[in-house]
Amino acid sequence: MRLLVVGSGGREHALCWAIAASPLCEALFCAPGNAGISEVATCVPVDVMDLDAVVAIARAEAIDFVVVGPEAPLVAGLVDRLAAAGIKAFGPTQAAAALEGSKAFMKDFCARHGIPTAAYARFTDPEAARAYIRAEGAPIVVKTDGLAAGKGVTVARTVEEALAAVEEAMVGGAFGNAGREIVVEAFLEGEEASFFALVDGRNVLPFGAAQDHKAVGDGDTGPNTGGMGAYSPAPVVDAAVERRILDEIVRPTVAGMAAEGRPFQGVLFVGVMVTAAGPKLIEFNVRFGDPECQVLMMRLMSDIVPALLAAADGVLDGFDLRWYPEPALSVVMATRGYPGSYPKGTPIRGVEQAAAMTDVEVFHAATRREGDRLLSDGGRVLAVTATGATVAEAQARAYAAVDAIDWPGGFCRRDIGWRAVARERAG
Ligand code: AMP
Ligand code: GLY
Repeated sequence: MRLLVVGSGGREHALCWAIAASPLCEALFCAPGNAGISEVATCVPVDVMDLDAVVAIARAEAIDFVVVGPEAPLVAGLVDRLAAAGIKAFGPTQAAAALEGSKAFMKDFCARHGIPTAAYARFTDPEAARAYIRAEGAPIVVKTDGLAAGKGVTVARTVEEALAAVEEAMVGGAFGNAGREIVVEAFLEGEEASFFALVDGRNVLPFGAAQDHKAVGDGDTGPNTGGMGAYSPAPVVDAAVERRILDEIVRPTVAGMAAEGRPFQGVLFVGVMVTAAGPKLIEFNVRFGDPECQVLMMRLMSDIVPALLAAADGVLDGFDLRWYPEPALSVVMATRGYPGSYPKGTPIRGVEQAAAMTDVEVFHAATRREGDRLLSDGGRVLAVTATGATVAEAQARAYAAVDAIDWPGGFCRRDIGWRAVARERAG
């Protein structure tokens, strides 16, 4: 088969790495990819939001199957456009991608189908939002309706902070149209986890759990990011919690989307808070997590291509996957300044040495090559990923590889996996 992966991050590098290893893969393209991805795929420069251009590439390269990485082209309808051109793709239609693309749709959908999530209210009028927040008190959470690159959520500790978030989104227009409508919801207390399931419109195949680290600083301090590191499996998602996530969130969602005429096909990424009263949905994403995808791909023993195809073809029923039992852990190296402003083009050395270490893969998230120099090309730049017999061992291997990389312009958290390592120590 000739495959095309759409996207350019660490997630897409991990997907390309896994797909390239499949005996079914005869040729692999990535649009647009990055310097690391170009080692396993032919990179084609294109803006993923230029849907015409992506469809044209798929046609020109006689692609049999497209795997879409990021949410923005899914929400914009890339899979619908590919289907109209007769090209098979992994990922939801625009109508199904609304689970991630619109918080208001997602919250109303959960209410219609009895899916456990935080109590909420929707607002298009800032004064009504302010009154609601004053009445509810803090802590409280303010979310823009639309996609805002992970920056549209404020977990407010005080009423003043929540009011400032309303001001920023609805009056200041900080998120453009995405912030014209907001959702204000109750604060959920507990431990967060990312749960994944492949979905073919009707059937569900659990695809593992991971724990991300969203805050930029050690000890979960500082502003939120796209994710500074992850590990899988996530001990907080034990067998009982997994069963509840599947029975109370994933299956009702898949059935509800089908019943509403928006069948979901692709990977459903369930952001959950494991509270004292059980798992509650924080958010749906309609694609793999980044960097969660990197650890999942390291743990997957089975060929990924038949699984993605089975989802796209509606034949996941009875499908099975095998996983390595060893945990995997990924440390994101980001450009100094991220998630604020940062320079591009700072030189990175030592990636080959790091990648050659035992049970280590260095996935590139934003790099480019200039001659024989490797340069940073974004905020999150590398995802240094390792496996080990324990999370502590995977962590030690990942940080040994991080330390082999010479990048004065970069930084990383030094405590990725701390919850799981503490659990291992406690026995
Ligand atoms: P979201 O983009 O909806 O995942 O929100 C970003 C982050 O904000 C989540 O990963 C959580 O850490 C936090 N968050 C979102 N909603 C809530 C909530 N209702 N209660 C507590 N934390 C939340
Ligand atoms: N790491 C979280 C996400 O991909 O949304």
